[in-house]
Amino acid sequence: MNAPTVLVTGATGTVGSTLVPALQARGADVRAMTRNPDRPVPGAENVVADLRNPESVTAALKGVDAAFLNSPSAADAAALQIRFAELARGAGVDRLVVLSQYAARPDSPVRFLRWHAEVEAHVHQLGLDHTVLRPNLYMQALLAFAGTIAQGRFAAPIGGAAVSTVDTRDVAEAAAAVLTGAGHTGRTYTLTGPRAVTHDQIAQALSTATGRAIAFHDVPSDRFAAALDGMLPPWQVAGLLEDYAHYARGEAADVHTSVADLTGHPARDITDFAHDYSAAFIPA
Ligand SMILES: NC(=O)c1ccc[n+]([C@@H]2O[C@H](COP(=O)([O-])OP(=O)(O)OC[C@H]3O[C@@H](n4cnc5c(N)ncnc54)[C@H](OP(=O)(O)O)[C@@H]3O)[C@@H](O)[C@H]2O)c1
Repeated sequence: MNAPTVLVTGATGTVGSTLVPALQARGADVRAMTRNPDRPVPGAENVVADLRNPESVTAALKGVDAAFLNSPSAADAAALQIRFAELARGAGVDRLVVLSQYAARPDSPVRFLRWHAEVEAHVHQLGLDHTVLRPNLYMQALLAFAGTIAQGRFAAPIGGAAVSTVDTRDVAEAAAAVLTGAGHTGRTYTLTGPRAVTHDQIAQALSTATGRAIAFHDVPSDRFAAALDGMLPPWQVAGLLEDYAHYARGEAADVHTSVADLTGHPARDITDFAHDYSAAFIPA
């Protein structure tokens, strides 16, 4: 059998950039999708397309066996993803792997989880071979706070709640396994780390890895929102507050074995992440 050709959306992003080499390691031919022709993904066929431009997506899907669907956080993310899935079915793509989120539910108080649930429901009734991946909070999300962490502190409205946060390298490796392997049709995999950790435990892991004192501070939602004011659009700040309230209620602490089941290796722990990314949390 010929190597499958896999279209990777978000190929320059958090999960996509790791997924490209993970797929190649499994023998797949990768078509990396980006909007920016000046920033090609090295070592892969590149295609310039925008989820907001259906003609470009149709061209990107031509001749593809499987597709990985990941869109950035956007107010119209659900509509963009639903249209992509319909175009993939129209293009005769054999397999669609959708990146959703832990605890996606149509009645969730978290808007992002409702949007993901809407996409999942639509994809389920499309009649296309598909698999859903629901990762929990990314460990790599800490990189957005690297500047303040390097100064010895970080803050979030989460209290002492534990979250089974997952390393995006594991998300990418799980996605590569599903995109290239058999037996995943119609399945939904929740992707978590090997344990649930509090933000104090995350601070401890970062302190140990960097050899510097790093402290976590619980903050009220309004102060967290004020710190993000002007950096993110209001809908995204509101969505993040909903996300953190969900974490703070202890609703994102279950541990699943899907990463190990799919990749054949244990999920990376927060201590692995802290060790491997320690340079990002040390002042330049
Ligand atoms: N952050 C978390 O902890 C977490 C946890 C679970 C699930 N998720 C889910 O992960 C998704 C977002 O992940 P992320 O924030 O890490 O983003 P990301 O995957 O890093 O997204 C950025 C990517 O999206 C591409 N992109 C942006 N606009 C595009 C457009 N209009 N058309 C095509 N591609 C476009 C960018 O590529 P170019 O600039 O090269 O075009 C870039 O590769 C969301 O669905 C979120 O719910 C996140």
